[in-house]
Amino acid sequence: MEIIAFVNNKGGVGKTTCSKLMAEYLSKTRKLRTLCIDFDPQCNFSHQYLHMEIDPAAPEGLIPPIHPDFDPIDPDDSDWDGRSSIAEIFYGQGVVPYPTYVENLDIAPGHAEKLLTAESVRRSEVVEKVHKQLASFLNSSDVQAAYDVVVIDTAPSKGPLTISVIKAATHIVIPSVMEEQPVQGIYGMLQLWMQESLSREKSRPLQLVGILPNMFKQTRLHKDILQSLQNNLAIGKYVLPVKFSQRIVFAEVDAADSNPRSIFDFQEQHVAKTEAMEVCSYIAERIFA
Ligand SMILES: Nc1ncnc2c1ncn2[C@@H]1O[C@H](COP(=O)(O)OP(=O)(O)OP(=O)(O)O)[C@@H](O)[C@H]1O
Ligand SMILES: [Mg+2]
Repeated sequence: MEIIAFVNNKGGVGKTTCSKLMAEYLSKTRKLRTLCIDFDPQCNFSHQYLHMEIDPAAPEGLIPPIHPDFDPIDPDDSDWDGRSSIAEIFYGQGVVPYPTYVENLDIAPGHAEKLLTAESVRRSEVVEKVHKQLASFLNSSDVQAAYDVVVIDTAPSKGPLTISVIKAATHIVIPSVMEEQPVQGIYGMLQLWMQESLSREKSRPLQLVGILPNMFKQTRLHKDILQSLQNNLAIGKYVLPVKFSQRIVFAEVDAADSNPRSIFDFQEQHVAKTEAMEVCSYIAERIFA
């Protein structure tokens, strides 16, 4: 089972958008049983597929809706409140992924408060525990039997949640806008990748798929920054030869009333669909070849 994570500690570079496109490409086009994981307390990825609810205990955050399999009169469900997020891994409870409107695509949603609690741990023995939970969930026989591939969206941070994802992933992609601030985030992520690579057993390396330019515009700024990355002796080799352009439809399909709801349901020759196919199939080839 391949575990693909989109990481960059800079905000708004397209981690969630790329996670969504990749997950829909794998489930719809490749027919792979895909599990999405939302490891960001903002819960943007979850909100794409589920009607997330405001947490009555912490109104600035979101919680997952009641799970469709929850039956309040079933005695087996008597010690379950009916909601299940990926953050249950930190509380020793089972995670029950939700089906979505996309065939072959399930999601283990976020839970703002619970993920923030895990993100804020500082005592080293607790941090160590947080780091290991995601990998042990993904290595469980249930998850391994149910899914072919996992796509993880991460928070704009280098905290315990992101480290936990780096430890669990088989592949990482670093999306970035070709502007000064987001490009700085690339260096931090490469550093995490190298640290993790050194501490891993040789038999399960963490593969860096590469740096994925996103929201690319044919402006002098974007072209110059892309070129200087490509020419950089240390990191040029990691810049992918494909990119996502700045296209309003990539944002428009996020609306719950969008029709179609997936770029992959647009007509064949649609320019955004063609681009999404090109980028996602390139990444998939790198992972599954
Ligand atoms: N290629 C694109 N073209 C146009 N809009 C885009 C593109 N990629 C992302 N966006 C839009 O830019 C905004 C930020 O993207 P997104 O939420 O994917 O970034 P993020 O890295 O996940 O942010 P955060 O760090 O806050 O989690 C969103 O409104 C999204 O719809
Ligand atoms: Mg996001």
